[in-house]
Formats: sequence, structure tokens, C-alpha cells
Amino acid sequence: QTQTGELGAYTTFRTEDAGEQSLALLTSVKNLFVRQLPYMPREYITRLVFDRNHHSVVCVKNRVQVVAGITMRVFLETGLGEIAFCAVDANEQVRGYGTRIMNHAKEYARSIGLHFFLTYADNQAIEYFRKQGFSDVITVPKERWKDRIKDYRGSTPMEFIIRPNTPYLNLSDVISTQKLKLMEKAQQFTNGANFYSTPKRGQIWKEMIL
Ligand code: ACO
Repeated sequence: QTQTGELGAYTTFRTEDAGEQSLALLTSVKNLFVRQLPYMPREYITRLVFDRNHHSVVCVKNRVQVVAGITMRVFLETGLGEIAFCAVDANEQVRGYGTRIMNHAKEYARSIGLHFFLTYADNQAIEYFRKQGFSDVITVPKERWKDRIKDYRGSTPMEFIIRPNTPYLNLSDVISTQKLKLMEKAQQFTNGANFYSTPKRGQIWKEMIL
């Protein structure tokens, strides 16, 4: 479990000796998927969420409310994680929870040695997956995933390559540190202390037109 602010993230899956907390989380995330993915049969969602080869990452707000979930089928032998379901509670969408649950899913996948995610993204969710770094150009060789993942009509296959050395949970801190280091290095090679910012886009147009 990881805790950041009001949000706790748990990873769980069905095991022989799954405890009460684990089963409660799986039931809540199953209910979330049933609500948010109404075109998917309830029995199908239940079967996959409680299947032993499917692992779920669940975000819980203020220790009680399940706000987001991702369930993936794990293929350790080929390094594939197939994202079967991904959803955020209707009252909590467009507040960044979708990004946070995906970062937790990427970090979990990295920790268990997966190399790539594949998913069939619903058409209305393609932009969300793009913003999480997924691409509809599949580069992973077919033999590593064909016959393993299900083909859903009306959806687009998308992939995400999981970098083994990328800390997905604090990526923005890493980028800020690298930016600072780059600025320090650049300063060593300048004659003066003057840095020039790039002009605003509007300004460039103005200058071109006038
Ligand atoms: N269309 C276009 N852009 C979107 C959409 C969308 N449907 N949803 C989110 N985004 C954008 C946001 O504007 C944001 O952009 P920004 O970073 O430039 O500001 C970015 O994606 C991240 O947004 P979050 O707030 O982190 O995402 P959110 O919490 O809203 O969750 C999700 C997105 C999971 C798609 C949610 O809307 C949802 O549960 N939808 C219903 C269920 C669904 O469609 N799930 C995916 C089905 S496909 C599958 O499960 C394999």
C-alpha cells in the first residue's frame, strides 16, 4: 500500500487465503467497473476481477471511498500486462485520479517485471490513454501478445512501454530535478548571467504579421 495525501493505493488479487480487506476492495472495484462500464456484462467483470491471473490497483480516498481502479491480466512469461478495465468514479472524474491510478498501475507493473501494457481503449477514452503515454502504434512483436489478449469491437488497441528504471510515482520530481541540473550545467557554459526566455507565441505572430 502507498499513501499520498488523502489517497491510498492498494494492489490486490484473488488468492487462496485472500483476507477480508482484499475481498472488500475487489468487490468495491468490481462495483465501480459495473457502474462506469455499463456495456460490459456484470458477470464478465466479476469473473475477471476475481480471477487469480488478474491483478487490481485500487485508489481509496479518505480510507473509505474507492474512487479509481485498474484491473490487468498479468502474463509474467512475456512481460505483458493487459489492462482489462480502467475507471474513475463519475463524481470524481477530471480531477487527476485517472492519471494517479495509471501511475500506480505503471509502478506496480514495473515492480513485478512487466515490460509493456496493452489495452483495447474505448473510443471515448483514447485521448485519456494518449495523455498517459499510450500509443495506437503497436511496436511490441506480435508473438509476445497475439492469442493472449481479447479483441473488443469498437475499441482501439494501444500500447505503453514500461521503462524498468523510471519511477512512475514521482516522475514530476525527477523531471524538476533534471531541469534544475540542466540549467546549472548551461550556466557553466554562458559568459554572463543573462538568460533569455522564449517570446510568447502571441508575440511571435504579432511580429510576423506587422
Ligand atoms: N476524453 C478526452 N480527454 C480526457 C478524457 C476523455 N474521455 N478523460 C480524461 N481526459 C484527459 C483530461 O482532460 C486530462 O488532460 P490534461 O492532463 O491535459 O489535463 C487527462 O486526460 C487526465 O485526466 P484525469 O482527470 O486524470 O482522468 P479522469 O480521472 O477523468 O479519468 C477515465 C479518465 C478513466 C477515462 C474516466 O473518465 C472514466 O472512468 N471514464 C468512464 C469509464 C471509461 O471510459 N474507462 C475507460 C474504458 S477503456 C478500458 O477500460 C480498457
